[in-house]
Amino acid sequence: MKKKLMIHDFYRMKKDKKLVTWLTSYDFPTAQFAEAADMDMILVGDSLGMCVYGYEGTVPVTMDQCIVHCEAVRRGAPNTFVIGDMPFMSYQLSDEDAVANAGRFLKEAGVDAIKLEGGVRIISRIKAILDAGIVVCGHIGLTPQSSGQLGGHKAQGRTVESARMVIDDALAIEKAGAQLLLLEAIPPEVADFITRKLSIPVYSIGAGPLCDGQLLIVSDLIGQFQAFTPKFVKKYANVAEVITNAMKEYVKEVRANAFPTDEYCYHMLKGEGEKLQELVKEYE
Ligand code: KIV
Repeated sequence: MKKKLMIHDFYRMKKDKKLVTWLTSYDFPTAQFAEAADMDMILVGDSLGMCVYGYEGTVPVTMDQCIVHCEAVRRGAPNTFVIGDMPFMSYQLSDEDAVANAGRFLKEAGVDAIKLEGGVRIISRIKAILDAGIVVCGHIGLTPQSSGQLGGHKAQGRTVESARMVIDDALAIEKAGAQLLLLEAIPPEVADFITRKLSIPVYSIGAGPLCDGQLLIVSDLIGQFQAFTPKFVKKYANVAEVITNAMKEYVKEVRANAFPTDEYCYHMLKGEGEKLQELVKEYE
């Protein structure tokens, strides 16, 4: 059975320079696959809004949707560290809201930690959630929930002025006590500096190879998400093609009455066939 890693394991891995593997999952079967692949961590990201529900972004995603998907992932990957992603407006209004919603992830879905977007300006939210005894992962750089303010889904930290903001966010998050940090879409040079500067584990999605581990969105990795492909995505499979081809084959066979053949049929039990003839006669 897979050994479940916990927060102290991630600190040890940073010290030992062992890279952490992290992937999003949104449902039971995919979580099972991730656990079978020996993934160290799973994020039930609010990217489920785009990857599962077909929204244009993450903003419409609700707490209830996140909880349902976290529950399914928890069942599929009982021995993997699972992080729930706090959706837009689940922590922006007040510290009390942030704690109540972060608590729901643990109480209702049994996740191991929560992630929330933002740096300096959400420090009081991070502290309040930590005070409730919940493990917190920060998320800075490109923060999709505030992509409107960032001018779209654009890489951050590419000028010295912007890099300073990302670095200040990272330092503030560590100082607040958060246990993990995710950097999204920033230059590797900036990510490298932050990873070496901070004592907490720092992970990358689109922040280059010099962090303490990597995160990808499963729908990108398996080639399922069609709307767009960020520069940092490597597609390891093309399931969209595999699934569409399987469905096309099914459509063709049903239209040609080539499916189902005899091997896919249930037959009457021994001796019941003759009785069926009599039954049919009753109805004629
Ligand atoms: O929701 C998500 O999957 C995320 C990643 C983009 C980091 O937050």
